[in-house]
Amino acid sequence: MPSSLSVKRIACTTPVLKRLDQLDRKCFPQDEPWDAKERAYWWLARWDGVEAGFAGILEVDGGQTGFLCRAGVLPEFRGNGIQRRLIQERVRFARSHGYKQVITYTSIDNTASSNNLIACGFVLYQPEYSFVGPNYNYWYLTL
Ligand SMILES: CC(C)(COP(=O)(O)OP(=O)(O)OC[C@H]1O[C@@H](n2cnc3c(N)ncnc32)[C@H](O)[C@@H]1OP(=O)(O)O)[C@@H](O)C(=O)NCCC(=O)NCCS
Repeated sequence: MPSSLSVKRIACTTPVLKRLDQLDRKCFPQDEPWDAKERAYWWLARWDGVEAGFAGILEVDGGQTGFLCRAGVLPEFRGNGIQRRLIQERVRFARSHGYKQVITYTSIDNTASSNNLIACGFVLYQPEYSFVGPNYNYWYLTL
């Protein structure tokens, strides 16, 4: 039987935020945890019913812009197109909320994320202020 992927937006209750933190630690063991989860909208991906990844979008710029703030896929589920679906779902959400654009960043060696963003129509840009530092690629998509 083919595997099934479901991606759903989740309500940010306290237990859900705790669960997102646990997934975050498994996906980003070397990073600082992203500590403003309650301000964003979140999606959970399930592969054959099993939690496999998560992603968020934060509304910035007075509601004009969606910022793809975090996405992670557990190592054992990588290479199945889960991140790409998580990007597509958030772009759909951004459109339906009337945002004018979606922005994000990747570390310069993150080829999987870069390819996925390009496949979803994102292009590179140089922000006025490199908000996470100089060694990152910055991306935007006009809606
Ligand atoms: C980056 C990350 C989110 C990618 O998730 P993913 O669900 O594996 O990505 P996808 O399957 O949608 O696509 C990844 C691309 O790289 C390839 N790829 C990624 N991991 C792979 C693996 N383990 N084996 C084979 N191919 C892989 C895929 O084939 C795909 O390219 P293609 O569609 O052109 O073939 C995941 O590796 C991750 O969570 N990494 C750690 C945290 C991180 O870097 N998050 C993103 C911050 S911007």
